[in-house]
Amino acid sequence: MLRFRLLRFPLYPSNLSALSPKHTSLCVISLSGTPSTKPRSQMGSYTTSSRSPKLLFRQLFEKESSTYTYLLADASHPEKPALLVDPVDRTVDRDLSLIKDLGLKLIYAINTHVHADHVTGTGLIKTKVPGVKSIISKASDAKADLFVESGDKIHFGDLFLEVRATPGHTLGCVTYVTGDGPDQPQPRMAFTGDALLIRGCGRTDFQGGSSEQLYKSVRSQIFSLPKETLIYPAHDYKGFTVSTVEEEMLYNPRLTKDEINWGSRMNNGGNFGFTVRSS
Ligand SMILES: [Fe+2]
Repeated sequence: MLRFRLLRFPLYPSNLSALSPKHTSLCVISLSGTPSTKPRSQMGSYTTSSRSPKLLFRQLFEKESSTYTYLLADASHPEKPALLVDPVDRTVDRDLSLIKDLGLKLIYAINTHVHADHVTGTGLIKTKVPGVKSIISKASDAKADLFVESGDKIHFGDLFLEVRATPGHTLGCVTYVTGDGPDQPQPRMAFTGDALLIRGCGRTDFQGGSSEQLYKSVRSQIFSLPKETLIYPAHDYKGFTVSTVEEEMLYNPRLTKDEINWGSRMNNGGNFGFTVRSS
């Protein structure tokens, strides 16, 4: 069961300060639904036919910060509950317009992590769509409506995201992974934030970052997923959109180094030839 807590000492940052004027305690994240009996052909052209017939998925891009926002919804549920992962303030109107066009009900705005220069649209969304709940990890010490820890599940309709703690870029970084089960999308999808980028990873030299911790997080919490699991990062600076666990295990120049060398290079500012951004 997911526990919500009142955060008494929010540390971060101005762009999250408007997340929630009120907090909720001891509630349950769940929007119950009954399994769909609709044939796949009635799910709509925007559902992902190669995965679960219920999932609606969109990868959205904000070019100034090279940030990806992800829209997920249970399209077969009568209420079409939806969530956004890592919304950006500059593209909130675009995202909400898309949600309206698709007839979805936005219930959660979720962040993989936060730090001083990480720009989130969560607070703005809450002002425009009353009832949306913001979610972030408890370890982030940020302000939100609901707080999650490793092992928690965030339900939207008959689908859910599993929370995996992946600290290292920041102490509170988490990866959200689509559920494991016969009615959940296959292959699974991992929204890794800045813990794991395509052929790279987030910087580890500020705000609770630790290269050793990031190395262990990625290998234990992400590389332990099935090899076909799709990797969807929070940023990309070279035009990549998606990778897989298998691909990153083979070719990610940061995570394929042995731990000692990897940590040493990260701590010395090495970026293995990739642009390191603060986001
Ligand atoms: Fe970041």
